[in-house]
Amino acid sequence: MKPITEIGAAVVGTGFIGVVHVEALRRLGVQVHGVVGSSRERAAARSNDLGLPPAYESFQAMLADTRVDVAHITSPNFLHYEQAKAVLAAGKHVVCEKPLAMSSRQSGELLELAERSGLVHAVNFNIRFYPTNQHVHGLVAEGGLGEVRLVSGHYLQDWLLLDTDWNWRLEPELGGDLRAVADIGSHWMDLTTFLTGRRITAVMADLATFIKTRRQPTGPVETFATDHAAKTVAREIHTEDCATILLRYEGGIRGALTVSQVSPGRKNSLIFEIDGSSSATGWNSERPDELWIGHRGRPNELILRDPAILNAEGRKAASLPGGHAEGFADTFKGLYAAVYGAVAAGRPGDGYPTFADGHDEMLVCEAVARSANEAQWVEVERSAKPAEARRTR
Ligand SMILES: NC(=O)c1ccc[n+]([C@@H]2O[C@H](COP(=O)([O-])OP(=O)(O)OC[C@H]3O[C@@H](n4cnc5c(N)ncnc54)[C@H](O)[C@@H]3O)[C@@H](O)[C@H]2O)c1
Repeated sequence: MKPITEIGAAVVGTGFIGVVHVEALRRLGVQVHGVVGSSRERAAARSNDLGLPPAYESFQAMLADTRVDVAHITSPNFLHYEQAKAVLAAGKHVVCEKPLAMSSRQSGELLELAERSGLVHAVNFNIRFYPTNQHVHGLVAEGGLGEVRLVSGHYLQDWLLLDTDWNWRLEPELGGDLRAVADIGSHWMDLTTFLTGRRITAVMADLATFIKTRRQPTGPVETFATDHAAKTVAREIHTEDCATILLRYEGGIRGALTVSQVSPGRKNSLIFEIDGSSSATGWNSERPDELWIGHRGRPNELILRDPAILNAEGRKAASLPGGHAEGFADTFKGLYAAVYGAVAAGRPGDGYPTFADGHDEMLVCEAVARSANEAQWVEVERSAKPAEARRTR
């Protein structure tokens, strides 16, 4: 086992989430040797402003750095496939942001390459790593809710509410043909799959684009930026602002999900409820330390995250004592603790989402798009390849 403090990493992308990756790695003691941006100048400026590690001259220069054992890919979606492939070809472990690729053809190829390489591969489904969600995973697995029957909830945001709101995610060639569903719905669908231990088998989806023309700034825009540019051009929008999706999971579980990036006042609200035959549970990402447990014949419970109260899975993911709020950034630390455990051992491990999970989510998203186009229920098309059966749950 290599000590975690001797493992070297680099982060590709220095936007909203690239910075969160760097900070989580530093908290774990990983040596982050550098960052890669769209240009050396832009990355160097971000490094300087935010105290990030130095900017590499280029992506190729990062690949050539033998100190780097693991590369994190946090660039816009259209770059994930080529960059993840290049990282694996360079013999480095890889952590890739979601969505893993632009199509299941690409994600399937990445999965195959990753499995053949013997390297550690992970997809950044960080929401699994709230200690409360890890607790729910354990609770469901041990039958604490009885037989799971119904999963419902939403993932709502408001940062694309106005026609003056702009981001690369609105451009299909940069973000993909699906927008809200691939960007945030994928988190909800991955999370509920993880929590229930059951994959989504069929979907019935309705997509809506309310803002059909947006004002695109002529200069670059950071994700979640709220300033409005003076100079803009009109652009037609073809990706969805909202989606309503009915789901069927393995074992007959039914689900209903609402996804939106145009819901006023909802900044980043992921809510799920899981109803079982004896009890239920519910969680809201905007109050992440609280977990609701519902009962029929006795008072309901509201658990405040506390390692002394959570089960073993929840306790493992918690960093702080109860009452000392944990949040979004902490989930990255929990996820990378699991991933870097495998890196330290020098081979893929378990307990974290892999390219198999990233590929499966691409298959589900493609089923959503197909269902919306055909206005009918469609099955998630999975081949019987063993790699896909090995996804982590
Ligand atoms: N897991 C999560 O919770 C979460 C949250 C936000 C974003 N994401 C994912 O992370 C990725 C980035 O999203 P973001 O919100 O940080 O976007 P962003 O626009 O804020 O940042 C993207 C970064 O990529 C850089 N970049 C562009 N071209 C590049 C290139 N050729 N090489 C290297 N870097 C390049 C940009 O300069 C920018 O720094 C997306 O895939 C998104 O889906 C995940």
